[in-house]
Amino acid sequence: MAETKSQAGGPAHVAIIMDGNGRWAQQRGRPRLFGHQAGAKRVREIVRACPDLGVRYLTIFAFSTENWKRTQAEVAGLMTLFRLYIQKEAQALLAEGVRVRFIGDRERLEPKLVALMDHLETLTAGNDRVHLTIALNYGGRDEVARATKRLAREVAAGRLDPESVDETTLTRFLDTCVLPDPDLVIRTSGEARISNFLLWQSAYAEYEFTPVLWPDFTAEIFAEILGRFAGRERRFGAVKA
Ligand code: IPE
Ligand code: IPE
Ligand code: MG
Repeated sequence: MAETKSQAGGPAHVAIIMDGNGRWAQQRGRPRLFGHQAGAKRVREIVRACPDLGVRYLTIFAFSTENWKRTQAEVAGLMTLFRLYIQKEAQALLAEGVRVRFIGDRERLEPKLVALMDHLETLTAGNDRVHLTIALNYGGRDEVARATKRLAREVAAGRLDPESVDETTLTRFLDTCVLPDPDLVIRTSGEARISNFLLWQSAYAEYEFTPVLWPDFTAEIFAEILGRFAGRERRFGAVKA
C-alpha cells in the first residue's frame, strides 16, 4: 500500500463527490447536460492544484451505479461527454505527470468508452506526480459484491483458505487495491450523504460538505477546504496520546 502522508500535513488522498451540475444548469435555464459540460471543465483546474496542495491521490465520482436511473438522453449525453473528455484531456494529463485509473464496473459501459479508458490508463502508467482515479459506473456496494465474487472464486479453486480471510484479503480484491484509503471526502452541492461512494475505503475518512455546486468549485475553494482539514484531529479509534 502506498505511503499516505502528505508533506504539508494536509490530506494525501482526497475523494470528491462532484455533485450539483444539474441544479447549476437549471439555475441558468439550460439543459442538465450543459451543467455536466461545465462540471467536466472544472476537473482540470482541481487536478492541476493537487501537487502544490500536497495531494498525491485524487479520486472523483463521475457516474454511479444508480445514475442509470436517469433519462436515456442524460445517460447517453454523459457517456458521450466521458468519451470526449478522455480524448481531449489525454495529452495534457500525460504531460502533467498525472496517472489515471478508473474504478467501477466496466461491463455495462460501451466498448468504445472502455477502450478509451484502457488506453488512457496505459498511456499514463509511467506517471507518478498525481494519481487521478475516476469512478465511472462505480458503487461501493457493487464493488464489495464484485470483490466478494472474485474472492469466492479463489476459494472455490482451492487457491485461498477461507480461514485466512481478513480485512486485508478483501481489500486486495477491491477496484481500489493499489490506492491508499481516502483521508478526506468532499461533497459539493449541499447534500450531506455519501451516495454509495467508497463505502469500505472511507471508514476513517474525514468529510467536508460544501454548498458550492460542482461547476462553481474553484481551486481556491479546494485549498480552503484542505486548510480546514489540517486542523482536524484524527484518532482512528484510539485515545489521544
Ligand atoms: C453530479 O451532478 C453529476 C452526476 C451525478 C453525473 P448531478 O447531475 O447529480 O446534479 P444535481 O444533483 O441534479 O444538481
Ligand atoms: C452522486 O451524486 C454520484 C455522482 C456525483 C457521480 P447523485 O446526484 O447521483 O446522488 P444522489 O442521487 O443525490 O444521492
Ligand atoms: Mg446530484
